[in-house]
Amino acid sequence: MKKILITGGAGFIGSHVVRLFVTKYSNYQIYNLDALTYAGNLENLVDIENASNYTFIKGDISDEQFISSLFQKHQFDGVINLAAESHVDRSIEDPMAFVKTNVIGTVNLLNASRAIWGDNYEGKRFYHISTDEVYGSLGAEGLFTETTAYDPNSPYSASKASSDHFVRAYGETYGLPYVLTNCSNNYGPNHFPEKLIPLFINNIINHKPLPVYGDGNYTRDWLFVVDHARAIDMVFHQGVNHETYNIGGFNEWKNIDLVRLLCGIMDVKLEREAGESEKLITYVKDRPGHDLRYAIDASKIKEKLGWEPSVTFEQGLELTVNWYLNNTDWLKNVTSGAYASYYDKQYKEVRS
Ligand code: NAD
Ligand code: DAU
Repeated sequence: MKKILITGGAGFIGSHVVRLFVTKYSNYQIYNLDALTYAGNLENLVDIENASNYTFIKGDISDEQFISSLFQKHQFDGVINLAAESHVDRSIEDPMAFVKTNVIGTVNLLNASRAIWGDNYEGKRFYHISTDEVYGSLGAEGLFTETTAYDPNSPYSASKASSDHFVRAYGETYGLPYVLTNCSNNYGPNHFPEKLIPLFINNIINHKPLPVYGDGNYTRDWLFVVDHARAIDMVFHQGVNHETYNIGGFNEWKNIDLVRLLCGIMDVKLEREAGESEKLITYVKDRPGHDLRYAIDASKIKEKLGWEPSVTFEQGLELTVNWYLNNTDWLKNVTSGAYASYYDKQYKEVRS
C-alpha cells in the first residue's frame, strides 16, 4: 500500500484532489496534512472522512521539527504539495505569512522527503502545485508556455516562484524526483468567498455591492476545479520526472464580462428581474501591481498526457452556482468570524 501525503487538502483545490485520490485509489493510504487556517475547512470532506484509506493530520508545513518527525513516522512514498497562502490581496497586506508557508514550508517538505528517501528514489515522487502567476503578466497577445521566464509581480506570486525554484534546485542538485504544474484560475464548489467568483455569488445572494477592481478589463483563464484535480492525478501518475506542465482552461474572460455573465445566471436562479444583479456592480480602487492578463498554453499536457477539460465554462459555472445556492450554510459558516473583519477592511469603500 503506497502512502501519499497531500498537503493543504482541506482547502479549495486540495479537497477535490483528496476526494479523487481517496475514492479512486483504494490501494493508497492518503494522509491529508492541513493547518486549518481560515481557508482550510474539514466540512469540505465530510463525504470521505470515514474512508478506511484516509487520515487527517492537523499541522503546519512551516514547522520544521514537526514535518521532519511526521515523515520519519509515516515514510511517505509520494508528496503532493498544495498547502499555501493563496490570496493575492492578503499577500499585499502580509507578505511574511506567504514566505513562511509557501517558501519555508515547501523547503521543509523537500528536506524531509530527502531525509526519508535517501538515495533510493525508486517509486518516490514529489509533486509541487504552482500557479500561472509566476510568469507575471501578459499583454493583449500571447500565452504562457512551460518555457516562459518567471516574472512574478505580487508577494504571493513571488513566494510561489521561489518555492518552484527550490523544487527544481532539489531536482538538479540532489536528483529529487519531482514534477511541477502551473495552473490558471480555478473555480467551483468549496472556493473560499474571498476570491472573485464565490465572493460575487455570495454578494449577489445578499444584495451587496460587487467590487470590481480598476476598470474591470483584466483577463483570467478559468478552469473548473474538478478538471484541475483530474490533471493532478494524471501528472502524478504519468508525468515525467523533472518536467513542468502548464494546466489551463483554454477559457479567457475579462473580469467585467465574467461578472455580467454571472449576474445574468444569478438573476435567473434567484428569480430576480433581468439586470437586477448588474446594478450591484461597483468599480473600486485597483489592486496594486494588478496583472493585466493570464492565459495558459496547455498543449503540452494535452499532447503528452491526453488531458483536457471535461466541462465547458457554461456547464462548470452552472454547477458552481447551484452548489453555492444549495450550500448556504457552508457559505454562512466560512463568512462569519475572522473573515467578516477581513472583508470590512478590504472593502471599506463599498461596505454595506
Ligand atoms: P486555499 O487557500 O483554498 O487552500 C490552502 C490550504 O492550505 C488550506 O486548507 C489551508 O488551511 C492550508 N494551509 C495554509 N497554510 C498552511 C501551512 N502552513 N501548513 C499546512 N497547511 C496550510 O488554496 P487553493 O486555492 O486550494 O490553492 C491550493 C494550491 O494551488 C496553492 O498552492 C495555490 O498556489 C495553487 N493554485 C491555486 C489556484 C487557484 O485558482 N485557486 C490556481 C493555481 C494554483
Ligand atoms: O492564476 C492563478 C491564481 O488565481 C492562483 O494562483 C491564486 O491562488 C488565485 O487566488 C487566483 O488569483 P487571482 O488574483 O487571479 O484571483 P482573484 O479571484 O483574487 O481575482 C481574479 C480577478 O478578479 C483579478 O483580476 C482581480 C479581480 N477581483 C478580485 C476580487 C477578489 C476584483 O475585481 N474584485 C475582487 O473583489
